[in-house]
Amino acid sequence: MMQKLEEAKHHILRKCPDFPGMLIVLGSGLGSLLDDLKLEVEIPFNEIPHFKKATVPGHSGRLVIGTLGKIRVSCLQGRLHYYEGYSMAEVVFPFRVLALCGAETFLLTNAAGGVHSDMNPGDLLLIKDHINCMGDNPLIGANEETLGARFPDMTQVYDSHLRESMKKVAQENGIALREGVYAGVHGPSYETPAEVKMLKMVGADVIGMSTIPEAIALKHMGKKVVAVSCVTNLASGVIPGTLDHAEVLETAKKVQKSFAFLVKEFVHVVRT
Ligand code: HPA
Repeated sequence: MMQKLEEAKHHILRKCPDFPGMLIVLGSGLGSLLDDLKLEVEIPFNEIPHFKKATVPGHSGRLVIGTLGKIRVSCLQGRLHYYEGYSMAEVVFPFRVLALCGAETFLLTNAAGGVHSDMNPGDLLLIKDHINCMGDNPLIGANEETLGARFPDMTQVYDSHLRESMKKVAQENGIALREGVYAGVHGPSYETPAEVKMLKMVGADVIGMSTIPEAIALKHMGKKVVAVSCVTNLASGVIPGTLDHAEVLETAKKVQKSFAFLVKEFVHVVRT
């Protein structure tokens, strides 16, 4: 694995020798942040050795490096999901590579279903902790000691200082931001109402199908992680009606302006 990571890393560093310290992952339909980015380099996933192609509509799969306002950042547009049939190791591979390239702080965004009836599509939620219901873990298998410890601590996966900064930025700019627990399921089917009820009972505030593998792999490597969910829909059974992916993308699109604003301000606060 280390050899593959090194090969991918060298390809990226050849194109971008001074890799930015901040990486932003743009979840489903949240690509508009790139409109504000002064582009430096763009690298499609299929050009990077050992990177797998993303297969979901709305996740095109490229690494974009540029300047957001005054800060240099890299953005992953499109991520790999476990439900696409990739192994956990494959899902986290790009994150490990980018951490090796020099990214230290990772801002993960995602779309998620809200479990509380007072939530509305378009709400933003800062993840304070997660519950891994994916039935798998990216660290299973021989441990790569150069990446991290065999049994890494997960007491604080989502960095408390970064969370405080995010909350402050939201408050100062009048952006509503709840804080809560993300339950990660493998999908791709949405949950049943009974499953949503169970996840709510065990402490979940939102449910999604991503983020947890990468958060675990990055914590393993000692990287800083902060994550925000866009509540694109209320989870199954919370209100009458059925769910579909088009609705998820549509809601994500509607809020992407305020989401992009929050991300941009946050990046400036933590990097200056
Ligand atoms: N459940 C799981 N994942 C999701 C949902 C949901 O309701 N909405 C967006 N991603």
